[in-house]
Amino acid sequence: MYKDQILQLRQQLHQHNHNYYVLNQPVISDYEFDQMMHQLEELEAQHPDMYDPNSPTQRVGSDLNQQFAQVAHRHPMLSLANTYNEQDVADFYQRVKDGLEGEDFEIVAEMKYDGLSISLTYVDGRLTQAVTRGDGVKGDDVTANVRTIRSIPLQLQEGSGYPHQFEIRGEILMPWTSFERLNHERELREEPLFANPRNAASGTLKSQNSAVVAERGLDAYLYYLLNDDDAETPSTASSAQQMQLDLFAPQPVATPATDGDVTHYGLLEEAKKWGFKISEGMRLCHCLQDVIDFINYWDTERKNLPVATDGIVLKVNSLRQQKHLGFTAKSPRWAIAYKFKAERACTKLNEVTYQVGRTGAITPVANMDPVQLAGTVVKRASLHNADIIAQLDLHLGDMVYVEKGGEIIPKVVGVDVEQRSADCIPVRFIETCPECGTPLVRYEGEAAHYCPNDSGCPPQIKGRIEHYISRKAMNIESLGPETVDDYYQRGLIHNIADLYQLTVAQISNNNPNRAVSARKAVDAIRKSCEVPFERVVYAIGIRFVGETTAKLLARKFRSMEALASATHDQLLEVDGVGDVIADSVIHYFTDATNRATIDRLAQAGVQMALSDEQMQGMTTKLEGKSIVISGVFSYHSRDEYKALIEQNGGKNVGSISAKTSFVLAGANMGPAKLEKAQKLGVAIVSEDEFLQMIK
Ligand code: IVH
Repeated sequence: MYKDQILQLRQQLHQHNHNYYVLNQPVISDYEFDQMMHQLEELEAQHPDMYDPNSPTQRVGSDLNQQFAQVAHRHPMLSLANTYNEQDVADFYQRVKDGLEGEDFEIVAEMKYDGLSISLTYVDGRLTQAVTRGDGVKGDDVTANVRTIRSIPLQLQEGSGYPHQFEIRGEILMPWTSFERLNHERELREEPLFANPRNAASGTLKSQNSAVVAERGLDAYLYYLLNDDDAETPSTASSAQQMQLDLFAPQPVATPATDGDVTHYGLLEEAKKWGFKISEGMRLCHCLQDVIDFINYWDTERKNLPVATDGIVLKVNSLRQQKHLGFTAKSPRWAIAYKFKAERACTKLNEVTYQVGRTGAITPVANMDPVQLAGTVVKRASLHNADIIAQLDLHLGDMVYVEKGGEIIPKVVGVDVEQRSADCIPVRFIETCPECGTPLVRYEGEAAHYCPNDSGCPPQIKGRIEHYISRKAMNIESLGPETVDDYYQRGLIHNIADLYQLTVAQISNNNPNRAVSARKAVDAIRKSCEVPFERVVYAIGIRFVGETTAKLLARKFRSMEALASATHDQLLEVDGVGDVIADSVIHYFTDATNRATIDRLAQAGVQMALSDEQMQGMTTKLEGKSIVISGVFSYHSRDEYKALIEQNGGKNVGSISAKTSFVLAGANMGPAKLEKAQKLGVAIVSEDEFLQMIK
């Protein structure tokens, strides 16, 4: 009874999901959708035996840490040869024509999506695996993350005629709206911004935490359907015919020469029926002019698309003809990419200024005459570092080319040397800090220059305090960058520890009108003494120590004292800590000023160790162990087991690899997982055995 109910709800939710995310045509309200989802969640919670990774409830992902197993592609994922102008396209057209010895042919023109390619495998209509391109031969298994992307079907449309097993490839993208929202949030949290949606999509898909992926609003378009024994490698004609007979209705007659051939266009039309999101801007071209028209149309029209595109892909339509044309070592002869020119403007460089960041890194900025570029007026552009300036051989007064190719921050990409007048002087990178005058340094292997005066350089001091009070650090909400600047200008704070000595009288400057807000600030600062130790480790701003590393360091060393005296080797034992981070931690605690700051924070009452509560039950029994949780349990929930693993010094990971120490297996562990564990010789530990281990 409940089984039918669960299956029916899943089926309905898959359909509504398809209507909303693929067809853009929801037929029920969000509220009704949520209600159904809740109902399914409840039923699934009551009946863990019905667990299904492809259930619509699994789209929210999980915060289990996962490692990505490497998977070999059944057929290599090749790239396409690039072309940049009409002549190149005409040459490609001619090469195809010659290769087909005068036979008629069609070209499918479609958008070239600017994201990262993905290979999806479906068995009996269910998504079973998603693998990144990797090096083209093998990629990362990112199935858990991909399951959270709403426009990727977990279950194909029943009865739509999909093959028993197949692979389909496409592009994972971050739509502009998601990208802008994400960067806005990161700006508020003072995290580095993603330069473009492609980097953001790629960073997101490689996240170890699928719940993060679920929130980021990724999208996917599919553009290449493979038949398992007939893909990207030359094979016999009979398999193509069989594929057509077995799986697909005969294609509409296009031209006599390709009449009856299985076509790329036809396959994608089929895939659309099965539930995939296929590009709408796909067109069958019958002559070179059709292709050129398509390119010219989308060159401007693409700006209205919800996702980033960087060109057009042209593919010979007939699979028989594709096979005839074959491949070079790197790419198919039957397809090519035409890349759009990035939008570019030319303007005068007036001045190079330099910004100093929280870490002391110096960023050179080009200040130019305002110029219109891709819909906005640009007058500043990043020059990145000294090497770039040297490469460009930049002179003040130069006419420079500025580009905005999918990036939010425009960059200077070249100089029109012809327009340079004889009296232009070369740009010389500064040697001292523009804020405090200290001679700059350049660390080995790094492109940036740094101001080493971290305790005396104003933007560095303010930057560190701003980091300390930020939400993910000490979360002192009543303060912000403006208050920090104000207190600093008035000489009230130089250091994060000074915050705890601020008085209402000082802040309000004895002005009764300001007393209330001053009291609020003092209270908020005092309240930050309750913030747990792991966030304090993050807040003190050790270079390269982000939130996650801070948490792991806190759990391993358990007190600031122990962390401060940790050796390089001990630090390396922490997951994700390499030489760079280990050196940085040691460097931080060798600095006398930092040590004094920590002492003052401790005196002020800031948490300098894990609390008793956090310490309770903590052991090192599972130290260094990577553990996968699988199946259904009777004594504790999965989350409880995850907590138990962490409490005992182990690490919970998402998927089985050679590095996995053991699998904590409940009832009904999936057969695929079991097989993989056995193949890799990874031990299977039962619930009872595990509890015995940590007893
Ligand atoms: S077809 C053998 N079609 O561009 C043909 N690729 O350099 C396989 N891409 O790695 C690719 N949009 O990530 C194809 N409509 C499209 C595409 C597309 C974007 C990407 C893909 C591939 C790269 C080719």
